[in-house]
Amino acid sequence: MGMTEIQLVRRPSGVPTADLFAFVDIEPPSVQPGTALVENLLLSVDPYMRECMDDDWELNAGLEGRAIARVIESGTPDLAPGDIVFHRKSWRTHALVTPAESRKIEEIPGVPLSAHLGILGGTGLSAYVGLTRIATLQPGETIFITAAAGGVGTAAGRIAKLLGAGRVIGSTGTTEKAKYLTEEASFDAAFSYRSGSIGELLAEAAPDGIDVCFDNVGGEHLAAAIDVLRPRGRIAWCGAVSSYNHQAPVAPSNLFEIVGKELRLEGFLVREHLDARPELYDFLTPYLRSGEVISDETIVPGFDSMVETFLAMLRGENVGKMLVEL
Ligand SMILES: NC(=O)c1ccc[n+]([C@@H]2O[C@H](COP(=O)([O-])OP(=O)(O)OC[C@H]3O[C@@H](n4cnc5c(N)ncnc54)[C@H](OP(=O)(O)O)[C@@H]3O)[C@@H](O)[C@H]2O)c1
Repeated sequence: MGMTEIQLVRRPSGVPTADLFAFVDIEPPSVQPGTALVENLLLSVDPYMRECMDDDWELNAGLEGRAIARVIESGTPDLAPGDIVFHRKSWRTHALVTPAESRKIEEIPGVPLSAHLGILGGTGLSAYVGLTRIATLQPGETIFITAAAGGVGTAAGRIAKLLGAGRVIGSTGTTEKAKYLTEEASFDAAFSYRSGSIGELLAEAAPDGIDVCFDNVGGEHLAAAIDVLRPRGRIAWCGAVSSYNHQAPVAPSNLFEIVGKELRLEGFLVREHLDARPELYDFLTPYLRSGEVISDETIVPGFDSMVETFLAMLRGENVGKMLVEL
């Protein structure tokens, strides 16, 4: 059995390119007592990985990332061959994991495995926590979601509607993706931020203002939201993808409006809210089983496509959660 892993060989400056990565064939690890060998089935590509390229990821070593895998050989009674597990040794075809490093996935009939990296995974959990714990979205409220056609964004839009949001507005990078949001993903209004000034487009989509902003982008998007937020509105700040390539400032210039309108801006990290996972499962599973809600996703086949798929996600070539299927 051969095993291949992808390593980072140089650090990026600005927009990353494929030549910063190398595919390396390595000896498959042998199964020791207390470990299991898994074959990876689905790999997640995520914006935070761009930040990891700057310093967190070691050069010329295996990389971290979320994956779903099948156990093929086991040296522990806690993991049996055939078990489906979640773990964080991605960017490779196979991995050696311990029970502590993996979590068994209970498959839900009628729900694709990929949903466990999408709306039922950390992606959906980020959306759910941002809406319920951080923004405390109330029925009837108007919400603006940025990077709305991505994994977190589509999940946030669908969950906001299920929570009773009055009007859900999204921004995204193309008019095709904006159309997807209103026609397929339960958004009431959506626009491409490339079709004009974000401030004007948002003011047009939300003539009466907004109560909540779920921000994945930062910079000009966040500034536009601050401008149209009603007094005592809330911002759940989830990410700042417009600045990860260091090409745009993160902070908006109108932060002081937060004081004048008594707004609340709160950042959050989903990893500090993993206790909400059972609540998310209970909330979403009936909708997923009935087909009322789906996990929006773009799945690219083949381990060889991993680097290009990661770069394509950063360029906005995904609708929903971007995954690679081996
Ligand atoms: N706080 C947490 O714990 C947590 C957890 C998960 C994710 N996040 C954050 O949530 C956000 C979304 O993550 P995701 O995994 O769901 O990724 P995603 O939205 O599926 O993919 C990234 C998207 O970002 C958009 N984008 C790229 N460059 C942009 C720019 N310069 N300006 C505006 N949009 C840009 C692209 O869509 P367009 O076509 O719309 O440009 C792309 O599809 C990221 O900021 C991520 O860091 C935070």
